[in-house]
This record gives sequence, C-alpha cells and structure tokens, in this order.
Amino acid sequence: MAELQSEHVLVVAIDFGTTYSGYAFSSGVEFEKDPTKISSNKPWIASQGLVSHKTPTCVLLNPDGTFKNFGYQAEDKYNEIAADDSQDHSQFYFFRRFKMVLHTRAHLNREVTVEDETGKSMKAIDVFAHGIRFLKNHALETINIQGLQIDEMDIHWVITVPAIWSDGAKQFMREAAQKAGVEENNLSIALEPEAASVYCKYLPIHQLGQDASGGCFLPGAKYMVIDLGGGTADITVHKVEGDGSLCEVHGPSGGAWGGTKVDQAFMRFVTEIFGEDVMRDFKKNNMEDAIDLHREFELRKRSVKMDSGETTSMAIKIPVALYELYEDKHGKRLRDDMKNSPKFKSYRDKITCTADKMKINIDLMKTFFKRPLEDLYMQVGQPTKVGQSITSLPLSVRAGQQQARVRIFASKNSCPCFVTDEGCSYLGEILVDVPEMEFDEGGTIEVQMTFGGTELHVEALEKKSKQMYKSRFDFLSGN
Ligand SMILES: Nc1ncnc2c1ncn2[C@@H]1O[C@H](COP(=O)(O)OP(=O)(O)OP(=O)(O)O)[C@@H](O)[C@H]1O
Ligand SMILES: [Mg+2]
Repeated sequence: MAELQSEHVLVVAIDFGTTYSGYAFSSGVEFEKDPTKISSNKPWIASQGLVSHKTPTCVLLNPDGTFKNFGYQAEDKYNEIAADDSQDHSQFYFFRRFKMVLHTRAHLNREVTVEDETGKSMKAIDVFAHGIRFLKNHALETINIQGLQIDEMDIHWVITVPAIWSDGAKQFMREAAQKAGVEENNLSIALEPEAASVYCKYLPIHQLGQDASGGCFLPGAKYMVIDLGGGTADITVHKVEGDGSLCEVHGPSGGAWGGTKVDQAFMRFVTEIFGEDVMRDFKKNNMEDAIDLHREFELRKRSVKMDSGETTSMAIKIPVALYELYEDKHGKRLRDDMKNSPKFKSYRDKITCTADKMKINIDLMKTFFKRPLEDLYMQVGQPTKVGQSITSLPLSVRAGQQQARVRIFASKNSCPCFVTDEGCSYLGEILVDVPEMEFDEGGTIEVQMTFGGTELHVEALEKKSKQMYKSRFDFLSGN
C-alpha cells in the first residue's frame, strides 16, 4: 500500500458488488489537488421512483446470449418481458447475485458456470464480462458528458474485489475485465477494504465521525477495517507506517456472511410459510411480483434496528398473487390458516396477514440477521508486509523450448515432502515464456514470486543475460 501518486490522466474504478455495482473516477489533476475529490456515477433510478447510489448487479441477456440490460434496467425489462404474454421470459437469461460463485467454488477455473433465475447455465466469465463492459461503457459516457476529452488508452481501470478472495478469484476478475475490453496493462485489481482505508486516511477529520480523533492516522496507529458487503464480510487490520503509508497487519479474514444471507433467511421463512410448491409456481409464473418482493424486503430490512426496542412489528408488502396461489393450493386463505391451522402454531402470535401485507413481529425479523451476525467472528492471521517475500525457483530450459511450466501446490505443513501428501492441494501453474536463447546449450531461468501485493507477481530472470522475462501465474488452470 504505497503512497498514492497520479500517473494517469484519469483513473476509473469499478465496484462490481454481489448485490450492487457502481463506479467512480478521478483525474490526475484533481487528485493532485485533493485525493478525496472523486466523481461517481449519477444516482441510478428504478421504476417506482426508487433511487440509489449503486445499481443492482443484474445482467439480462437475449435468448441468443447477447447483452440486453444491466442493473435496474435489467430488472425492469425482465419484469416487462415476464408480464408480456407475447414473450417467453424463460428464454432470456437473467443473472443476479452471481459474484459469490468466485468465492464459494473450491476449484475455480475458466469453465465455471452460473445459473440464471430460471436455472439455465452460462459460463461465468461471459456473465461477468457483460456486467463489466456495461459499467465501463456507462463510465465512458458519463466522462464524455462531463466534457472531459480523454482517450480511452489514457484511462487506468481499477476493479475492486473483496480482500478475502483467493488469487484465482482475483485472476478470474482480471480476465473477465480483459474480455470486457480493458487493456491488461491498464488494469489494477484493488482490495475493497484497502480502498476504503486509503480513502478514509485522506478524509478531513470532521468527516470521519465524532469519535475520530486526530491520532487515527498518525504513524504507529492501528485500526480495523470491517467491510460488510452484500456477499462477504471482510476484516483487515491496518497500521500506519512511519512514512504515512499503510501496512496490513492482520488478515484478511472473514467469509460469506454478507447482507444477502439475511435475504436468504427471509426467503427461507417465506418458503416455510407458503410452501415450496407455491413458491416454485410463484417464481415461474409471477416473476414480476417475485422481483418486487425482493425489492420490498431490501427496503424494509434497512429499518430493522437490532438494539432498539421501539418498534414491535414491521409490515411487508406481499404480492397478492402469492396469497392467491396459497389459496388455490390449500383451498383456504393463509390468514385463516394462520389463525387455525396447527402447522402455524409457532407463528400465530408473530404474524398477521392482511389483504396485501404481512405484519411480522420485530423479534422474528431480527432472527433473519442472527446467523450472519453470529458468523461474523474474528480470525487473526499472520502479519503480512506489503510487497514483501520473494521466493526464487531455478528452472533449466533447453534451447528451442518456448514455454516452461511449473505446477505449484500449497500445504499447511511447513515441511511437506510430496504433492500427494494429505492436506496438499494444487494451486495453479506458472507459465514462463522462454526467450529465444542466443546460446545452444539452453540455460537457467530463475522464477521469482513476490507475495504480499494485491495479486501474486511473477517475474523470470534469465541468469546468463540477466534479462527479466514476462511470466504469469495461472490459478484457473484446473486440476
Ligand atoms: N441499513 C442497512 N441495514 C441492513 N442491511 C443493509 C443496509 N444497507 C445496506 N444493506 C445491505 O448491504 C448489502 C449491500 O452492501 P454493499 O453495496 O456494500 O454490497 P456489495 O458491494 O453489493 O457486495 P460485496 O462488496 O460483498 O460484493 C445488501 O445486502 C443490503 O441489503
Ligand atoms: Mg462491495
């Protein structure tokens, strides 16, 4: 985490979130004057007048796989298609909340697929690329509208990722961005909590909140950054070094305990009440209402105060179609079953159903947050100095050999013997482009791996000529 310098005419950063996405940009000139002077996308507007700072990470593709819409526009368009009898929405691809696949998949490779809302699969890298391309083009349009005459090649792109992501996931995001038209050399991957930390460091004290004292960012100070996103919770401890730069002391640790876990708990609850078959029909035939229910919960969940006893219940708008489907299936209205049926005994005093609402006891609402909050514990890792740790590996190459390949395995054992040992797993491979050798007998290349930056950096040094050669680590090569 070196001190910031502006080497670029314009830096555009894309925050591709699990639930919401957006972008921000800063010109080199503005940055020199004030590093916190950052412009961001204009507020995004959904139908029904919903306005927000970021737009939902939703990708809508045509039946032939070409791009149609992103964000609120994608949600609204998909709703429109679902409501239009002349079109079959199940032919279209609608992806939402797919970012987590990069965190949860144990063996990530380029072939990993994601499922859309109706269960159709597509290669994840293409879905990510569609999303990034949309945000990139949107950012370029915004920049143009602002009258900044900037050549795309003068823009440095940044994509932020959760700190707890594996190197493979970071590489996946990098490759998706390249697929979306971002030049490899014009792209940096930044860690989300690190970006927040650096930003706060430059903020005037009064903007950091009433508890922030001037000592917050003085050399030697340590602080914890907790980034609670939609998909992940990221915990990192940073320390301010003597020269003002930041060093990561602990972490990153965390896990898949983001806000979407709360949504999942709510949807499990709704499924328990209405029944799986009703929910299946509801999602299949009332997509528009299903999306509205998600939006409704998104709004309501924000007013739940875990430590306040002021409110006793919360009313959530329930699509009439859902109540009707229940009645069709069971021959009785849910509100009557809620009062009389033994299956709802435990919910009877906690839920009241009205024509288009469900009044839910606040303690029941709080249980949706319970599990993710419990899971949010601290795991403290080994201190990592940024840019530190270089491991060298000698490699003999024959004359005429064009590429050298080194398979890398990881083990928790400090002295592993064989790659087949228990606890040893395949990480990926290093690919070194071997230069045309001027000598016939081949030579030795020293592969240097630098750990501690945002991404693993690999360089290859040809010992005789002392020349550095391009090399890369491939975490996505599968097993
Ligand atoms: N006031 C609030 N109370 C509870 N949850 C909230 C509140 N505001 C936002 N959220 C939840 O936070 C999540 C969105 O946070 P954020 O935009 O930081 O995540 P993201 O960038 O989409 O995800 P990630 O960074 O994990 O990929 C959503 O799940 C949203 O419902
Ligand atoms: Mg985020």
